[in-house]
Amino acid sequence: MFQKNLLQAKRVLITGGGTGLGKAAAQRFLELGAEVYICGRRQEVLAATVQELHQSTGGQIHSHACDVRDAAAVEQMIEKIWADAPLDVLMNNAAGNFLARTEELSLGAFQSVIGIVLLGTLHTTMACGRRWLAAGRKGEGEKVVLNVTTTYTTTGSAYVVPSAVAKAGVQALTRSLAVEWGDRGIRMNAIAPGPIPTEGAFSRLLPRPELAEDAKKRNPLGRFGTTEEFANLAAFLISDGSGYINGEVVTMDGGEWLQGAGEFTALGRQLTNKEWEMMKPKPKKTKE
Ligand code: HXC
Ligand code: NAP
Repeated sequence: MFQKNLLQAKRVLITGGGTGLGKAAAQRFLELGAEVYICGRRQEVLAATVQELHQSTGGQIHSHACDVRDAAAVEQMIEKIWADAPLDVLMNNAAGNFLARTEELSLGAFQSVIGIVLLGTLHTTMACGRRWLAAGRKGEGEKVVLNVTTTYTTTGSAYVVPSAVAKAGVQALTRSLAVEWGDRGIRMNAIAPGPIPTEGAFSRLLPRPELAEDAKKRNPLGRFGTTEEFANLAAFLISDGSGYINGEVVTMDGGEWLQGAGEFTALGRQLTNKEWEMMKPKPKKTKE
């Protein structure tokens, strides 16, 4: 789908790049010539991913164990990365989420998810953004921040309220800084994926496997997304080819949220052929 050297010479940090969608993006970016840094809390997970992806792609991949909730730890990680050379791309992908009845949540539960998703994104974005802005246009090429949100940032969603409020904040950050920093060479966009099977998401959000079939029925395409589809979109959005896309949230969900939102969608799907026939206009009687 892309030229082999599409991301040649781009240096990319993917938070939460040791697993799931972040790992799939790391693999695609390496295949396309980027140098990739991944971070996450679990050192052993990162080390296994570095080894696997280096072997499968031959690309340059490094890792830093870092909890993005901790601003000082993020600053330290970014300082270490910059000591090698500045980054070109920051992909804020790390997240925390779980299904819960909101009235039963502790303050700690809110703080945990908002800390990872919203503050974590802020910490990395500020650490990289300040360095890019200080270097001005002297830095080679354009800088890109790509955030990962969800399809419920605008609608909200019951039972994942900490995630919904945090991701909505990330969406606001994306659109705000796209404007504030755009004229200084930094583009900022987001991907809002629909359900894509990963261990991290599905183990926490799909308590019974058979619920997956219902979820697919709620999607016009009748299936989940794939990690490859996500990684290809991410590769495009961090590439120079998408240079005029700024402040955009690209939904990739097979049309799922629109199906949920359409007033007559559910009703139409329940009607029988006979009922559709009955809805048609009756032939007009011609006057003799
Ligand atoms: C209620 C919960 C809870 C649950 C944890 N807590 N799990 N409350 N229901 N299921 C509360 C704890 O009681 C605690 O509150 C606080 O949250 C922090 O919990 P810890 O276990 O100490 O936190 P930690 O080890 O830091 O783990 C963070 C986490 C965990 C967010 C809770 O799930 C995690 O590590 N997630 C990372 C990966 C992830 O979530 N991936 C899925 C992303 S999918 P107290 O008050 O005791 O301190 C996604 C979008 C999907 O984001 C959209 C699909 C379409
Ligand atoms: P995942 O595999 O659980 O990915 C989350 C990653 O974030 C993990 O690698 C985790 O590593 C890391 N992480 C969590 N807390 C962290 C912290 N405090 N500091 C640093 N890293 C942390 O789930 P995923 O499905 O790939 O999700 C990736 C992104 O896609 C998330 O932003 C999620 O909201 C979004 N998304 C996913 C779906 C889906 O259906 N899969 C749909 C919509 C949006 P550690 O645990 O080692 O820290």
